[in-house]
Amino acid sequence: MSGLKKLCAALLSAGLALCAVCGLSGCASLTGGKRIVRISHAQSETHPEHLGLLAFKEYIEERLGDKYEIQIYPNELLGGAQRAIELTQTGAIDFVVAGTANLENFADVYEVFSMPYLFTSEETYHEVMNDTEYMESVYESTNEAGFRVLTWYNAGTRSFYAKKAIHTPDDLKGLKMRVQQSPASVNMANAFGAAASPMSFGEVYTAIQQGVIDGAENNELALTNNKHGEVAKYYSYNMHQMVPDMLIGNLRFLEGLSEEEYAIFRDAALLSTEQEMQFWDEQAEEAKAIAQDQMGVEFIEVDVQAFKDKVSSVQQEMLDENPHIQKLYDHIQEVNTRHTQEG
Ligand code: GCU
Repeated sequence: MSGLKKLCAALLSAGLALCAVCGLSGCASLTGGKRIVRISHAQSETHPEHLGLLAFKEYIEERLGDKYEIQIYPNELLGGAQRAIELTQTGAIDFVVAGTANLENFADVYEVFSMPYLFTSEETYHEVMNDTEYMESVYESTNEAGFRVLTWYNAGTRSFYAKKAIHTPDDLKGLKMRVQQSPASVNMANAFGAAASPMSFGEVYTAIQQGVIDGAENNELALTNNKHGEVAKYYSYNMHQMVPDMLIGNLRFLEGLSEEEYAIFRDAALLSTEQEMQFWDEQAEEAKAIAQDQMGVEFIEVDVQAFKDKVSSVQQEMLDENPHIQKLYDHIQEVNTRHTQEG
């Protein structure tokens, strides 16, 4: 963390701790009667998620602006995903955007998204995730932990990138690759033959730069928005995962909203997803061009089937170990099959 970032985090944490202690009315009185709603995320201010959250903010403030002010904290300013989830859990902040890997410790149904090659196409992925009615049953799963998911954001397809070129699964052998902080992510990278190195997203750039790790795995935006393309020059399209990000809200806050207010927050969340997805498509294309032309990153097309074969037993192993993922897995397979049949 940079000095400035540390200072911001310390000042904000002190303020947030005060809010948690004095309760909402205390905070509201500090802010001219408005309830400040804080959202934390890990991306930059030009990232599709930030832009989607701006739409969330605008929609709510247009309708409930006399009562709520939405404040968005980007760049892990309030801490990495795990810390920000804890803050959301306690109600020190109200929302956080985090990938499902970070939710596995709270509800192990989310492990399903860490399975390599779970979705057979982007269409399947989008259809499953946009089926809000079905996904509600999954979103409820963290109620006991004190928070729940309101909507999802597209985070593209994840592939490996490193300081050296990866053409085949054998090239991964022994490479220290950063993964998200979840047991399933660790297992996945190890199954590919790499040496999994879990750490928070904000630490990845320096870890690659200093040679603590050889590379990581993510979507193309990590190269540009998070500047990883400055330190890792080879991106291999092995496309092992589509892992969604989730907008997660403190349950007490959500349940404290009136029915009308809740409907507005929910509509705002769905609108933010629509916007985010549009920005995503534009920016993913752009990111590839910028990484290639301005950062000198080489994009490598690989034999994806060889990578699939390398981890072909992982799905069944995960199903055997965790029965909670079976239902959602079957549902996803049904959609996969339908899309394959429709051609
Ligand atoms: C993506 C994703 C983030 C996630 C990150 C990671 O950028 O959008 O939510 O934290 O990958 O690999 O940690």
